[in-house]
Amino acid sequence: MKPLDVERVVSALVTGGAGFIGRRVVRELLDRRAAVRVLDDLSRARPGSLDAFQGRDGFLGLVQGSAADPAALQRALQGVDTVFHLAAAVDVGASVRRPAAAARANLLGSLDVIEAARAADLRAVLVSTCHVYGPARGPQDEQAAERPASPYAASKLAGDVLAEGYRQAFGLRHTIVRPFNVYGPWQRADLEGGVVARFIQADLRQQPLEVHGAGAQTRDFLFVDDAARGIVDAAAETAVGRTINLATGRETSILELAALVDAGAGRVRRVEHPHPQAEVDRYLGDASLARALLGWRAEVDLRGGLARTRAWFAAQANRASR
Ligand SMILES: NC(=O)c1ccc[n+]([C@@H]2O[C@H](COP(=O)([O-])OP(=O)(O)OC[C@H]3O[C@@H](n4cnc5c(N)ncnc54)[C@H](O)[C@@H]3O)[C@@H](O)[C@H]2O)c1
Repeated sequence: MKPLDVERVVSALVTGGAGFIGRRVVRELLDRRAAVRVLDDLSRARPGSLDAFQGRDGFLGLVQGSAADPAALQRALQGVDTVFHLAAAVDVGASVRRPAAAARANLLGSLDVIEAARAADLRAVLVSTCHVYGPARGPQDEQAAERPASPYAASKLAGDVLAEGYRQAFGLRHTIVRPFNVYGPWQRADLEGGVVARFIQADLRQQPLEVHGAGAQTRDFLFVDDAARGIVDAAAETAVGRTINLATGRETSILELAALVDAGAGRVRRVEHPHPQAEVDRYLGDASLARALLGWRAEVDLRGGLARTRAWFAAQANRASR
């Protein structure tokens, strides 16, 4: 196990810690012997996502509430020195259909976490997204042009900008982490962003794998274990005040991904894109800074990650059918 360069993190709060990436961050922190509390409103969490941590040394339990509720946040922050902020309304499609709701939830959640971190002088790791960037013309480092294509992406970028203002004005000790397209066990299969989960679940049910639009759009698929390790690593002192991409540096088109999952079964179908205006044709990350500052690099390749994700979804389906 990687040593805790984050040895300073004695006690952490993970907002959105019952979600797909958040629960893996919780596990990573517990593995590194930090004490961890979760704040989650359970609006999007899969049932049972925290069960494995109950009774584990260091697990301080769940505060069920919203990151945009200062009272719940205060309760959750008792005795905490570092906050990992992941709570967000993450569905791009939903943010196009109901923009104000997504923008409000994400903005207020980020504002309240940043304000609480300022007030209590906490270390803050704010999980942003590659969606803040415009389409890649080559590998995108942290200087890539910011051009959010959806209310979701815009509200995430707004949180990043807010944190920078707090850093300048109050010396907020924060790091912004921008994972690219994360996939793996526990991801929901009903979100458009979760294309790997959607394809694997459809394949296991022998249903069509629906590709939105032409399928030529590419993504830099990052396995959730790699993402969680990078997010926890980002609490290192070397990363204070920095914005850091987490990516593999490899791109795969949605059609290629569908073919990998389908493995010749012939169930890949192209369907009309539900919101082409919010589609970004290319994401390809450059994570050189994460390598230089944190010694981080992605370790799981796409085939290996897909196999692990498939095994998890198959086990879930088995359990449900018993
Ligand atoms: N999945 C990806 O590919 C990806 C890539 C880059 C960044 N991110 C970011 O990572 C974070 C986690 O995303 P995820 O994919 O795990 O999504 P997720 O929906 O699985 O997790 C989000 C969690 O936050 C909770 N939540 C939502 N709004 C909340 C609120 N106001 N207060 C408290 N809890 C709330 C949900 O119940 C859920 O458990 C998000 O900030 C997202 O923007 C995700």
